[in-house]
Amino acid sequence: MTDTVGSTSNGNIAILISGTGSNLQAFIDAVASGQLQAKISLVISNNPDAAGLQRAADAGIETLCINHREYEHRETFDAALTNALQKHDIDLVILAGFMRILTPVFIEPYLGRLLNIHPSLLPKYPGLHTHQRAIDAGDDEAGVTVHFVTPELDSGPPVIQARVAIGEGDTAVALAARVNVVEHKIYPLAAQWFLQRRLRLTNEGASLDGEALPEGGVQYPQ
Ligand code: GRF
Repeated sequence: MTDTVGSTSNGNIAILISGTGSNLQAFIDAVASGQLQAKISLVISNNPDAAGLQRAADAGIETLCINHREYEHRETFDAALTNALQKHDIDLVILAGFMRILTPVFIEPYLGRLLNIHPSLLPKYPGLHTHQRAIDAGDDEAGVTVHFVTPELDSGPPVIQARVAIGEGDTAVALAARVNVVEHKIYPLAAQWFLQRRLRLTNEGASLDGEALPEGGVQYPQ
């Protein structure tokens, strides 16, 4: 694994989506406002119908659809993704609602410069239906985690977490909407740290400003 990631950063990011693209929109808005000093060089979707493709096109960003249904194996799909990204000088890859499990074919070349957002307080609730699982378990809070991606699903080192209270009679849909609001704050922030070379993944784990991050990452103030 490289631990010099970002040392040649040009601020070029690629964003991978599968659906609505509200996190993509948060990145577009953060770049436009100057909160995130980056260039979104490429948006890739595995789903030709992803609404996020239109958001990217509206913002003048190059888009590409790599339809996973046209690939028999995960590895060949991942190789196509890697090839597409390698044509751009990408410093950071952002998975934003990208609903494909990635293999080492993709993860290894981008290890240390690949972030994901997962709608739970990892290590709780990896996988799907996270908000319903938190409600069913009687938890009094849910949340979201931005983490580095490693080959194990939803278990790379956390960078930042935001917590959202679960209310009496809450539903997964209502909770997801509230979590979505904080997703849009913490994800561009994590990207900014990375591109400023403050955030790194080394063999020792994730660090910010040279300090090892705690188990859940930075806790975003509620
Ligand atoms: C978000 O809830 C994110 O946490 C999860 O997928 C959803 C993506 O939403 N990984 P959007 O496409 O960014 O609106």
